[in-house]
Amino acid sequence: MRALLLLIALGLLAGCDRAPEVTFADSSITLPDDPMDLPDLPGRDAVIANCTACHSPSTMLQQPKVNREKWESQVKKMVEIYKAPIDPQAVPAIVDYMVAVQAQQADTEAP
Ligand code: HEC
Repeated sequence: MRALLLLIALGLLAGCDRAPEVTFADSSITLPDDPMDLPDLPGRDAVIANCTACHSPSTMLQQPKVNREKWESQVKKMVEIYKAPIDPQAVPAIVDYMVAVQAQQADTEAP
């Protein structure tokens, strides 16, 4: 039985001695234009440096309005769950910015 297993293993190994051919082709994609731009408020640079690698401005600007504590926990979640490389020193500026943006949005949405 052992000898048989050994033979099967050797047979499998022999079949794996050559890597499959890999060929590369040039290709490109066009991302859609984002219709929204981050408003010019203090902390904008921190958000661009730490968040927009993964999120478009539209994604950042179309979040439900939440308070400061919730934004702090959102940023913490980005770091801990999604492993976002966020500069810890930039976090207060990012949180200030998101709170200020949502306050501004609430002002302009008022009837
Ligand atoms: C490494 C990539 C990455 C970076 C950088 C990143 N995020 Fe995220 N973020 C994610 C992923 C993944 C999700 C969850 C998937 C989704 O909902 O799109 C998410 C979701 C969110 C959400 C939706 C709510 C939620 O809890 O799912 C908010 C708000 C958010 N991110 C804010 C931020 C802010 C603010 C920053 C900058 C401080 C940031 N993100 C940086 C990856 C990232």
